[in-house]
Amino acid sequence: MATRLHDLPTPALIVDADALEHNLATMAEAKPGAANRPHVKAHKCTPLAGLQSLHGHRSFTCATPREVMGMIASSMGDDLLLANEVLDARRLMIMASLQDQAQITIAIDSDATLDAAAEAGLTRVIIDVNVGLPRCGIAPDKAGALADRARARGLTVAGVMGYEGHLMMVTDRAEKKAKVDEAVDLLLAAHADVGGEVVSSGGTGTYDLHDRVTEVQTGSYALMDTSYASLGLPFRQALHLWTTVIASTDQWAVCDGGLKSLGMDHGNPAIEGQFVWFCSDEHITFSPERDSGNAIAPVGSHVKVAPAHVDPTVAYHEYLHIVRGEEVLDTWAIDLRGW
Ligand SMILES: Cc1ncc(COP(=O)(O)O)c(C=O)c1O
Repeated sequence: MATRLHDLPTPALIVDADALEHNLATMAEAKPGAANRPHVKAHKCTPLAGLQSLHGHRSFTCATPREVMGMIASSMGDDLLLANEVLDARRLMIMASLQDQAQITIAIDSDATLDAAAEAGLTRVIIDVNVGLPRCGIAPDKAGALADRARARGLTVAGVMGYEGHLMMVTDRAEKKAKVDEAVDLLLAAHADVGGEVVSSGGTGTYDLHDRVTEVQTGSYALMDTSYASLGLPFRQALHLWTTVIASTDQWAVCDGGLKSLGMDHGNPAIEGQFVWFCSDEHITFSPERDSGNAIAPVGSHVKVAPAHVDPTVAYHEYLHIVRGEEVLDTWAIDLRGW
C-alpha cells in the first residue's frame, strides 16, 4: 500500500510535487537549457537533478567533489562545474580519474589552487573572480595572469565565474539591478583578459537581472525557502519539514523539528498561521498568530514547517519525500551529501 503523508516518521522533509514542477518549469522558461546551470548544492539529490535535466538543463554546478562524483555516477556528467576551490589532492585525483566519463571544470583563484588542480591531473579550469563578495575569487585585474599561467601548464581555461552572493537579498529592484551590473562589469573586465567561452554568475535572487553572462547558477529556486520567498520571486515553497506536535499547553505547542533538522542561519522557520517563538535542538515552540483565531495545535497533530534556508536544511536529512496532498508519491535519497 502506498505510504500516506500522516504515516511518515517525523521530522521528515517533504516536497510538494506540483510546486516543484512549477518552479522547474518557471525557471526553464526564463533561463532555458544552457542559460541555466542548476546548482545541485541546494538539493543534493540526483533524482531532482534528473528532473532539472528533463527540463532541458544538461550542465550543472557543484560545490563539493562529492557532488561532482555523485552526478557522474548518475550519468549527469556532461558538463559539471565545481564552482569552488579545492586543495585536497586525494579528491582532486579521484575527479581527474573520472574525466574520461565526464566534463569537469574546476574553479581556481590562486597559484595554490591552480597547482593542486594541475598536479592531480585535472585538465579544465575556470577563473573564479571576486565581484564583491568577500569569499573566494581572484581580484579582477589579476585574473588574466592566472589564466595565462594555467594555459602555460597545459590546462584549458573555460572562462570566468563570479558569484554576487552579497546582492541576493537586496530588496529594491532598481538598486539590485545597478549593483548586479557593477558586479558583471567586474566579471566582464576579467573575462576580457581571461578569454574562454563561459561567463557564469548569478543565483536565485538575481537570475532575472542577468543579460550579459552566458549562464546563471541557480539552486534554491527548485525547493525554495522563506528568505527567498520574502523577495516575491515567482517560485513556490516546495519544501517543508513535516513534524508532529509532541506537547501542547493553553499558551503554546511544541513540534519535533528544531535546530538539528533545519538550517537556522537565516532565522526561524515559519508555520502558516502560527508564530514561532524559538527552536531548540529537537523542538519548535509556537502559538497561533495574534488575532488569527487559530487554535493551539493539539498533541499528535502534524505541522508543516517552512525552512528559512534550504541548502543547510537539506544537508541534515537523508531523504526527500515527494508528496501530492496525502499521497507520498516517491522517496528520493539525498545522495550528494558529504564532501
Ligand atoms: C558559487 C555559487 N553559485 C550560485 C549560488 C546560487 O545559489 P542560490 O540560487 O541558491 O542563491 C551559490 C549559493 O550560495 C553559490 O555559492
